[in-house]
Amino acid sequence: MSKFDFSPMPDVNGYFGEYGGQIIPPELKTVMDEINTAYEEIRQKPEFQQELADLFANYVGRPSPIFFARRLSEQLGGARIFLKREDLNHTGAHKINHCLGEALLAKYMGKTKVIAETGAGQHGVALATACALVGIPCEIHMGQVDIEKEHPNVVKMKILGCTLVPVTRGTATLKDAVDSAFEEYLKDPNNFIYAIGSVVGPHPFPKMVRDFQSIIGTESRQQFQQGEGKLPDYVTACVGGGSNAIGMFTAFLNDDDVNLVGVEPAGHGLETDKHSATMTLGKPSEIHGMKCYVLEQEDGTPMPVHSIASGLDYPGVGPQHSYLKDLGRVQYETASDDECLNAFMTLSRVEGIIPALESSHAVAWAMRKAPTLSAEQCILVNLSGRGDKDADYVAQKLGL
Ligand SMILES: Cc1ncc(COP(=O)(O)O)c(C=O)c1O
Repeated sequence: MSKFDFSPMPDVNGYFGEYGGQIIPPELKTVMDEINTAYEEIRQKPEFQQELADLFANYVGRPSPIFFARRLSEQLGGARIFLKREDLNHTGAHKINHCLGEALLAKYMGKTKVIAETGAGQHGVALATACALVGIPCEIHMGQVDIEKEHPNVVKMKILGCTLVPVTRGTATLKDAVDSAFEEYLKDPNNFIYAIGSVVGPHPFPKMVRDFQSIIGTESRQQFQQGEGKLPDYVTACVGGGSNAIGMFTAFLNDDDVNLVGVEPAGHGLETDKHSATMTLGKPSEIHGMKCYVLEQEDGTPMPVHSIASGLDYPGVGPQHSYLKDLGRVQYETASDDECLNAFMTLSRVEGIIPALESSHAVAWAMRKAPTLSAEQCILVNLSGRGDKDADYVAQKLGL
């Protein structure tokens, strides 16, 4: 019996403890409530469950395997490190799990356009893919800085037929892309749907995206139990908005002996202003329609955050993560840009797996932790995506 009780989560108003909710104008609240009603309807339907299960198996390639990183574990000494291979999914990351759900929901609701932001381009590619499959027009907003950094994903989105909107305001990164996409959405919220790319934004998105992503933890728990005859001692995932982490953690929340660790970007260092460690250095506030931990400047505006990983530089975080932090159920740690690059190169050269820069943060934490543990102990890392999109950038940065 767990000392925590996580059901039902969130409550009917979309709150995880004090976090979440719908901090939006009343007219938008009506639209969000319609989305919630449609979601609660569709998720009960056996046809929908069957369609999603079929797409997960035959389109995405689920279940994704768990791989024992033997050489990496031996090299580090200490705990054995396992990788949940979300990088092997169609489109190369976990994002496809919720994009298929969101695209099917958009079709069910008769929406005429799906709008979203993207940071690293993974959510953009996954959503453009899902919209091509379902047959709905798709518009993606992306910061100009990220467009230049994530060229392969930009090209893919165009090939997949979506309209790409470059965003040049502010720091021209993820938060500005969210603002821009939201403005477009507000032009016609009755006919458009904003397919949020993480467990953030107003209710019901943190719940809905979590539900679609929870397949990661459900599979992992069963696979690990089958393979190792026990559960992992540590389960870790990187945290941007928090979708791959919550997707992994949900199945383990009631297993008190399983330590859950979210890894945020420390960028150039926590003592500098170039990081994105929202849970570590932020405070409870409001952003993008929800209450959560936020990194703010003195005047209360969101901090211009930084991470080498475009998918992690967001000044807010999912409300459920904020709640889990206060509760002490999940521990939030950080990894710097340099540690991330080191993990990226090490995993590539020791295991032949090129991880996404986002996922490399979780790998970096596992590499730091493993030598402090014994060989009987196991760390399961959610390898949220593959690093093809980052290869040119890293090669240039390291002069390869
Ligand atoms: C591979 C990968 N992992 C993680 C993330 C971070 O998002 P989240 O925290 O919602 O999983 C991204 C975002 O683009 C990503 O592309």
